[in-house]
Amino acid sequence: DQSGLAYSVGTTLDRFIKSKQRDFPFASGELSQLLRDIALASKIVNRETNRAGLANIGGAFGQTNVQGEEQQKLDVIANIRFIRALSKGGEVCAIVSEEEDAVIDLQNKSGKYVIAIDPLDGSSNIDVNISIGTIFSIYRRKTPIGSPIQEEDIMQPGTEQVASGYVLYGSSTMLVYTTGFGVNGFTYEQSLGEFFLSHPNIQAPETGSIYSINEGTQNDWAPEIKMYLDACKEKKYAARYIGSLVADFHRNLLKGGIYIYPATKKNPNGKLRLMYEANALAFIAEQAGAVASDGNMRILEIQPKDLHQRTPLFIGSKEMVKEALSYARKTA
Ligand code: AHG
Ligand code: MN
Ligand code: MN
Ligand code: MN
Repeated sequence: DQSGLAYSVGTTLDRFIKSKQRDFPFASGELSQLLRDIALASKIVNRETNRAGLANIGGAFGQTNVQGEEQQKLDVIANIRFIRALSKGGEVCAIVSEEEDAVIDLQNKSGKYVIAIDPLDGSSNIDVNISIGTIFSIYRRKTPIGSPIQEEDIMQPGTEQVASGYVLYGSSTMLVYTTGFGVNGFTYEQSLGEFFLSHPNIQAPETGSIYSINEGTQNDWAPEIKMYLDACKEKKYAARYIGSLVADFHRNLLKGGIYIYPATKKNPNGKLRLMYEANALAFIAEQAGAVASDGNMRILEIQPKDLHQRTPLFIGSKEMVKEALSYARKTA
């Protein structure tokens, strides 16, 4: 095509998931169905996101969530949409959500999977038409199907994820996920209502020249974070910070870069949540050849103790995270 405008709408997400299912002849197909349920809910949230400015679903909801954040209407809508899709789907027995104080026990006797979800990430960006997202982690329950849900089914380290992913509601809407065999990205074709494979086998660049951190909190950082940032500036790296973790992570994953949310005086464990923000992205990062650390250890190896526990996050290109962490060690 001479115009360069032709684009391929080849493999749908459904077809891709089905083709992968054939690689696991003994798997029951429930994980595949679960991924399709998530994709369906994300299409609904995408629709709500697109019309938010017209439909009076912008702005604050009027309540705070368990972490004391003011909920936006779209936070609540996305939470409801995903919980509904996951409950109806039948594959899930329990849900951990940013917007729910406690675990939701679906009392589903046949559900094998536990989900942790940030239904809407970057909610401060909703009302200003800037990219937002959804983040999800999928675990297999540890105790037998049909028995009551136990603590050990929920409090699993990120290494136990069987799949994770995110949806980015951006200049286009994308779904990116991994089941532990590489990372694939799908772009939503609005008029057809389908996700199509657009970014097969995503590989993160080993290094890059973008750094992403909220520099407004600089006076509250440990000195080594500032030292690393000074080194970034010395090298004339580009500062890019959207304030939606999904969007900042996605950009750096494709282009090469580092995202840091450090401990601050206000948030001594950082701000981001281990179970439904850091773990999912850490799994994707590692599957794409990037890395994720809390400053001391691999994010994926942290044993969660609290549903809403926070963690500092250093995530992105291997070489850049390595360098950032070397500053911490130099001063330790
Ligand atoms: P959420 O909207 O799900 O509560 O997440 C907000 C998070 C994350 O998306 C973003 O990277 C970070 O908060 C931004 O925090 P600062 O405004 O402190 O930079
Ligand atoms: Mn929030
Ligand atoms: Mn979030
Ligand atoms: Mn959120």
